[in-house]
Order: sequence, then C-alpha cells, then structure tokens
Amino acid sequence: MSYLISTDHLSKKYGTGTVVNDLNLRVPQGCVYGFLGPNGSGKSTTMKMLLSLVKPTSGEVHIMGEPMNRGTRRKLLGRIGSLIESPPGYGHLTGRENMQLIQRLLNLTARQVDQAVETVRMRDQMDKKVSNYSLGMKQRLGIAMALAKQPDLLILDEPTNGLDPAGIEEIRELLRDLATAGVTVMVSSHLLEEIDKTATVLGILSGGEMIFQGSRKELFAASTPDVIIDCSDPGHALSLFNQDLDGRLAGESVLLSNINERSTAQVVSSMVGAGIDVFGVRRDEQSLEDVFMDLTKGGGL
Ligand SMILES: Nc1ncnc2c1ncn2[C@@H]1O[C@H](COP(=O)(O)OP(=O)(O)O)[C@@H](O)[C@H]1O
Ligand SMILES: [Mg+2]
Repeated sequence: MSYLISTDHLSKKYGTGTVVNDLNLRVPQGCVYGFLGPNGSGKSTTMKMLLSLVKPTSGEVHIMGEPMNRGTRRKLLGRIGSLIESPPGYGHLTGRENMQLIQRLLNLTARQVDQAVETVRMRDQMDKKVSNYSLGMKQRLGIAMALAKQPDLLILDEPTNGLDPAGIEEIRELLRDLATAGVTVMVSSHLLEEIDKTATVLGILSGGEMIFQGSRKELFAASTPDVIIDCSDPGHALSLFNQDLDGRLAGESVLLSNINERSTAQVVSSMVGAGIDVFGVRRDEQSLEDVFMDLTKGGGL
C-alpha cells in the first residue's frame, strides 16, 4: 500500500496541554480521506502540521514517502494544495483577479488556472467581486486557488462549514470528481453526514487521539448493531436483565447494545419464561452516527 501521507507518533503540545497525541495517520493514494472529530479535537492543528504551518512537538510527517524537513519542505509543499480556515480570496478583487494573482505568484499557465476554475464550476462568476460571493462560491474559489498548481494532494479544513445543504452537496460532488481524476483529498469535518458517502477512508479524532482509522466497511465491522425486541411489556422485560446488559426502552420496544447472538437467545428465553409476549427480534440498521457514538461512548460529534 502506498500512502500519500503518513505520520509517525505525531504530537503537538501547547504548554502542558496535549492537543494532538501520538497520531499515526495513513492516507492511501487516490482516496478521499475523511478526517472527523468534534470541535477542538485537533483536526486543524494536525492539518497545519502536515503543511508545516505548525511545528510538531514530536513525531514525523511523511508526504509521498519522503520525510518533511527543511530540505524537502519546499518541494513537497509544491505538490500540495490546501484550504485552511476561511477562504483565501481578496474581497475587493474579482474572482478572475484573484486567480491571476495566484497564476503570477506560482508561475502557472493560463490553462492551469482556467482548468481549476472549470473544475469548481465558477467560470460564470469570475467577473464578480469576491465580496459579493456567497460563502459557497468563496469556498469554491478557494479550492480553485488550491487546485491551480495541479497538486497530487489536496488538504481541505472544513470546506463545508457554514454552507447550506445545496452548497455541501456541490463540495461533495467536487471531491468525488477530484478523487476520480486521481487527486488524493484529505478533508476534515465535525459533522459526520457532511463527508459520509464521500470519504472512502475515515480517520476519527477525539481529544487529539485517533480512535478509528480505516474504511467505512471496517468501521461498521468494528461495531455490533443494537438488538431491538418488540414485546408486550418492555418495562418488565428490561427489569429482568438490566443489571447484566446494556439495555434501554425505545418506544414499545427494548433496545440492547453490544449483545451477541447467544445472549440474545437467552434474553428472549427469559422474557418468554416471565410471561412476556415477544413479537419480534431484529438488529438495528446502523448509521455512521450510531457507530461513532459507540466508539466515543456517547461523546458524539
Ligand atoms: N496556538 C494555540 N495555542 C494554544 N492552544 C491551541 C492553539 N491552537 C489550537 N489550540 C487548542 O488545541 C485544541 C485543538 O484545536 P484545533 O486543532 O483547532 O481543533 P479542531 O480543528 O478539531 O476544532 C483546542 O483545544 C484549541 O484550543
Ligand atoms: Mg478546526
């Protein structure tokens, strides 16, 4: 497996506070990597360390197999496009003027710039002042600025923050198109649903630590769906086994978490033994949200 980004024991401390702790990121080439975590979990700090904007307290960053250091930094950063924090465009200039600045700064061809503008579907907006853009348009111009140098890797910090559902969907589509075109995309969010279905690999951060990293499929495999039992007296049923099991009432049903097949059979049997009618037993459908709640033990995103 070749990784576009890998970090070894990457950590950042501010004073006595550890903000990022012992992170071993593995971002495979060609994927959309969803970097998830609640606000304050260390996503931006990690991305800034990847981009050499923040100096790690310890640990290493490898980009395309090469260690990021003073000798390699310039070359490696030349292959990475990024959008960190608020969109970068100058408000008093038009979209086109902003792109021309980037073109001169990075010594790009007009074609490279046009292509980036085309990719983010902003061609019709280029003669407007950026201050008159919607937030979604500003984000897309920011992504065009990051894309113009045709990077192999794009690092986007919460690009969907503050966007309406239509704007979020546009960014999702854009990320999928980019991945199809061979650009590896690392994108952060504190909202699961914003990158659910876009990201093929997920890294989940909580309190500066990686609590899960892998494919969506692996994430679901790591967690057992809840068992739902529809019965005549869920309150009574719950009182039978509540000491031993992780159960709660859900409407007219009993909901049991982290329970295997053997225990499910025993529970049903003891319910029937206690004179409770059991109408149905099923495994819950799990959303990514449920799985995340399992992992963080209810901490939530
Ligand atoms: N320059 C800094 N000095 C001190 N603390 C910081 C600094 N930057 C970030 N932090 C702290 O580090 C934690 C993680 O922040 P951040 O990386 O921005 O998280 P996220 O992007 O996931 O919201 C927060 O508690 C934040 O207050
Ligand atoms: Mg952040």
